[in-house]
Amino acid sequence: MDRFIIRGGQQLFGEVRVSGAKNAALPILAATLMVPGKVRIENLPHLNDVTTMLQLLGRMGVDVLLDDTGSVELDATRLSSVVAPYDLVRTMRASIVVLGPLLARAHEAEVSLPGGCAIGARPVNLHIDALERLGVEFEVTDGYIKGRAPDGLIGGKVIFEKVTVTGTENILMASVLARGESIIENAACEPEVSDLANCLVAFGAKIDGIGTDTLRIEGVPELSGGVHRVIPDRIEAGTFLVAVAATRGSCTLTHCEPRHMGAILLKLQEAGALVECGEDFVRLDMEGRRPRAVNISTAEYPGFATDMQAQFVALNAIAEGNGRITETIFENRMMHIPEIQRMGALIDLQGATAYLTGIEVLQGAPVMSTDLRASASLVLAGLVADGETIVDRVYHIDRGYERIEEKLRRLGANIERVRM
Ligand code: EPZ
Repeated sequence: MDRFIIRGGQQLFGEVRVSGAKNAALPILAATLMVPGKVRIENLPHLNDVTTMLQLLGRMGVDVLLDDTGSVELDATRLSSVVAPYDLVRTMRASIVVLGPLLARAHEAEVSLPGGCAIGARPVNLHIDALERLGVEFEVTDGYIKGRAPDGLIGGKVIFEKVTVTGTENILMASVLARGESIIENAACEPEVSDLANCLVAFGAKIDGIGTDTLRIEGVPELSGGVHRVIPDRIEAGTFLVAVAATRGSCTLTHCEPRHMGAILLKLQEAGALVECGEDFVRLDMEGRRPRAVNISTAEYPGFATDMQAQFVALNAIAEGNGRITETIFENRMMHIPEIQRMGALIDLQGATAYLTGIEVLQGAPVMSTDLRASASLVLAGLVADGETIVDRVYHIDRGYERIEEKLRRLGANIERVRM
């Protein structure tokens, strides 16, 4: 298992190119199961989760042709299986997003229960309830979700009692090939959901209300091929901005989408950063100043993203003043706290709220990765710590960040990957 060795204290300066969004790429790749023809997906990030999804599609009979520019040609004309097996699903719980496409295309699906992960139980009850509204019959046996719609899917109305990103994506994909009209209320509005919807429209789907919490879909008999370019990753972009802000540096992010980053940029400005946005770039400059502490409560989009919470804990740990960070989306997404406390951070964790008293500098230490974003926050903490920080189990980070150590080194960080 690889580990990172980080020697803190460098201010970060320079330019970073933002990769395609993992959480858009995964449902979009799953959607290609619905198309009996060639499709081309561009700007795919080079991540372990994307590789796992492509393996999963290959297992089902999809022809996959990756080129070296981050684009992939897929052809799902002939599906040979409707099973998403445990050995792949257990490594990437987002595999659940093949459920809707398989039911739409083949009227049946067997997807291993994704199981929980470090940040929570991650149930899929809302996915199942919503798909049942379109005429799917489910049974959950032997650790698999087995769905069947012998007469095909019939359009219906779904009101999510709780906002769910992949739940919205599953029901959206299923409804695209259902007979008649479907309405989804209390839908997730994350940019990744809209990117999926725009991709489906490019393949011939009829979807209104994209970007809002009410989606109206007119079912079509079949989708045709097409080309779609995945949106930039707002969480990767936000992570690099926090790294630069924490080290009092400045940077330009290119190939990004500032319009998807409103809440994050506002908090960085509150922390004292000068932020300038263009069509596809963000410039941040701390002018050498120590960041100020901020108060955050995570929320569904366009609120402050839960996937940026751990990174701001690292920022608040070394900021001037006291900051409060509350996690409202997942029940166990504070596991980075004890690790950052081991680096000297003054944090009082009360339930899902962390009260931080900022200190000038942390102390390097060996720390343990637990999940994707927690691990990223440990890297950020290492950048602003005296001495050496060793971040173990970086496979967590490789799931969601494309060569993070190379991009950070290009900004001046002293970080190296050690193969164990
Ligand atoms: C997506 O996960 C993202 N993953 C997560 O990113 C992100 O943190 C999350 O949305 C919230 O924005 C992908 O898109 C692949 P949810 P998802 O369903 O869809 C509860 C990262 O770091 N819930 O919106 O699984 C659930 O337990 C990852 O990139 C149910 O109770 O999240 C949670 O408390 C981590 N029943 C809340 O809803 C269900 O059937 C929101 O979960 C489904 C969800």
